Amino acid sequence: MRGVRYSSDSSTPVALRVNGKTYEVSVKPNETLLDVLREKLGLTGTKKGCDLGDCGACTVLLDGKPVNSCLVLAVDAARGEVLTVEGLAENGELHPLQEAFIKYGAIQCGYCSPGMLMSLKALLDREPHPTRDQVMNAIAGNLCRCGGYHKIADAALAASRAGNRGSDDRL
Ligand code: FES
Repeated sequence: MRGVRYSSDSSTPVALRVNGKTYEVSVKPNETLLDVLREKLGLTGTKKGCDLGDCGACTVLLDGKPVNSCLVLAVDAARGEVLTVEGLAENGELHPLQEAFIKYGAIQCGYCSPGMLMSLKALLDREPHPTRDQVMNAIAGNLCRCGGYHKIADAALAASRAGNRGSDDRL
């Protein structure tokens, strides 16, 4: 039987939209968005933990929704807009969530922080004034091996009070 044969060695050129920029890259059919972000685009803020969809360290936003980038093929991501932690700050100003993480000591080893921030950014975008339960649900797929969940939730609630891009006076 004749058919198209795909080899995992063959690369395809794709245009990836990441943090508002277009990157032309060649990707293999089985290459994950996570690996392309880190190894081809140099965006190492997104972390690789389990590489299995369990830990949430690799969370990015794809068309505004949080996804585990270790489970998304780069060729599929080329159809959407990707936002990574490097794209959170704007015009040299940290996002209120980043300010609040610093102010509330919501970072210990920091490995989970980029993924946490992206999950929480998605939450605040759809629910600007979440309850603590909503915050905890939003980060249910993000594991913190230091156990810093309460400070992370405190920071998220403070950021929500400050508004999506408001003054940090209210943090
Ligand atoms: Fe993707 Fe753990 S590295 S979920």
